[in-house]
Amino acid sequence: MTDQVIGRQSAHALINFFDDQHPPLGDFMRDVEEGLSATPRSIPPVYFYDQEGSALFDQITELPEYYVTRTELDLLGKISSELSLRAGAGAVVIEPGSGSSVKIRTLLDALGDASGYVGLDISRDHLIAACEDLARDYPDVAIGAVCANFTAGLKLDHLPLPDGRRLIFFPGSTIGNFEPADARAVLAGFRSGMRKGDAVLIGADRVKDEQILVDAYDDAAGVTAAFNLNLLERIRSELGATLNVEDFTHKSIWNTELQRIEMHLVAQRRTEIELNGKVHVFEVGETLHTENSHKFTPTSFQLLAESAGYTVVKHWSDQAELFSLYWLEPNWEA
Ligand code: AVI
Repeated sequence: MTDQVIGRQSAHALINFFDDQHPPLGDFMRDVEEGLSATPRSIPPVYFYDQEGSALFDQITELPEYYVTRTELDLLGKISSELSLRAGAGAVVIEPGSGSSVKIRTLLDALGDASGYVGLDISRDHLIAACEDLARDYPDVAIGAVCANFTAGLKLDHLPLPDGRRLIFFPGSTIGNFEPADARAVLAGFRSGMRKGDAVLIGADRVKDEQILVDAYDDAAGVTAAFNLNLLERIRSELGATLNVEDFTHKSIWNTELQRIEMHLVAQRRTEIELNGKVHVFEVGETLHTENSHKFTPTSFQLLAESAGYTVVKHWSDQAELFSLYWLEPNWEA
């Protein structure tokens, strides 16, 4: 259900419209109960991002070991004139899962003459604040905010968007946090917001030396460990579970077969998590799997994009081949 297209005279005076699509919120309790009861045990990574988790993630993006963010930003800057040519005049940038993205500024600067921007995120207040900031800094770009869950496809037909080419911007290798079938569905879902001539600009982290990958997810300063352990803090404080955070440690593992970094919380001694009257016993070394971050080769990414109905029109990478950006266009015959 969609409602509430509000104009400039609205409470959100700086942005052109706010459209609340009322996304269903994830059920933290249900997902944790299910995850603790499953074999192997796992909890979806979406629950990392409370206020503390989001602040820790911002710190991660600046760590020396976490090359992902700075490499992508550098690359965006390097290819800016080519992006501007490809996008053409008056492009409308749509950013699923926009959060407080700083990369959008690099892209808007690269394009130079974008006519519109739509941030799309599940976190309503954060989304509006970020879009208002952007509107302040880019007065010539018509800025809109859509509160929605982008994994359910893009519903944009009713929005008062400028008429330019739509460019869906999906940076950060967020696509890697989905299981392959879900990643395919997410990409295919973007097509519902696209018309002939539109494109996707997507960032995808690359397969590389195992140690570089493991270190990027297990930094010397322990920020990623704190980010992972914060999930247990949330389970204790928000769900009322009884557990000892100190009984667990953070671990990052490269899974060669599935081409992904896995993050786990590993029990250092026999311990229990009691939730809603049910006791979940962890033996020493037993893990709670908290995140997958899939990495891609140009070939494996192309296969994913094609399976979701796109053609890879252009691929860019940094010199060290750490990270890739792809320009995808829907294959409308598919
Ligand atoms: C948000 N996402 C792309 C990050 C990643 O690299 O998979 C999340 C992250 N987890 C630990 N460090 C960063």
